Amino acid sequence: MTATLDPKERFAFGKNWSRFLEHLNDDRVVEAEKSLKEKMACENLNGKIFLDIGSGSGLFSLAAYRLGAKVFSFDYDQDSVNCTKYLQEKYAKNDPRWNVEQGSVLDKYFLNKFSKVNILYSWGVLHHTGRMYQAFENVADMVNDGGSLFISIYNDQGKASRVWKKIKKCYTKSSFFIKKVIVFLCTIRLWGPTFAKDFIGKLNPFKTWKEYGKNNRGMSAWHDVVDWVGGYPFEVAKPKEVFNFFKSKGFELQLLKTCAG
Ligand SMILES: C[S@@+](CC[C@H](N)C(=O)[O-])C[C@H]1O[C@@H](n2cnc3c(N)ncnc32)[C@H](O)[C@@H]1O
Repeated sequence: MTATLDPKERFAFGKNWSRFLEHLNDDRVVEAEKSLKEKMACENLNGKIFLDIGSGSGLFSLAAYRLGAKVFSFDYDQDSVNCTKYLQEKYAKNDPRWNVEQGSVLDKYFLNKFSKVNILYSWGVLHHTGRMYQAFENVADMVNDGGSLFISIYNDQGKASRVWKKIKKCYTKSSFFIKKVIVFLCTIRLWGPTFAKDFIGKLNPFKTWKEYGKNNRGMSAWHDVVDWVGGYPFEVAKPKEVFNFFKSKGFELQLLKTCAG
């Protein structure tokens, strides 16, 4: 079973990622590697099999590849696949140690082709599939004994999450111009207090904005805002729900970071 939502109602993740790649530089790649090393508490991934589900820009597949893993990447969105392929061709041309494909985490038939892996990385993806708990089921089956699963899921913030869901749905259905207006207003809502604080404290309202990548996996503030505002389908879960689900599948919690409650 694949993602069934009308493509027009889905956020075009891959288009945003292809614009992000125009800003990719060595510093961002190093930050992405650093974030993987920190999460995985290791200096390299030599000999590990790393499956990147919902690879997006491909930056974390690239980081895992540079850390020595054998990498499999896939994404549902063809533009995201093209981004990942672009990085694969640029940094690992003709190297069978990195494979990139189009596919869905909801497609059991597609997933059957993968053996169980040491590291399954699906950061900010499963809540965008339209069927998050089915996606949880599917990934839980793909990690071998002693392997690790790294996921990031939007925290359920009750009313705030419901409001954001409406904004995201509205964004995906809007015209080009309305989309720009929505992103502008949301940027003010999300970043206004930081701009003000940086202006008062450092006389530079964009200080934190410009340095965003350093503390955020090499990402860019602007492309993360667009991804956040548009990212639909959108589901949320409380940390304990995610914890209980994966505990029931035999996983043990190693690392948990929560934001906004
Ligand atoms: C917010 S981006 C995260 C990208 C990347 N994991 C990262 O950490 O930067 C979410 C990605 O999940 C992909 N995605 C959404 N539904 C999917 C599905 N059913 N199967 C695989 N990928 C999916 C989107 O196309 C998008 O590229």
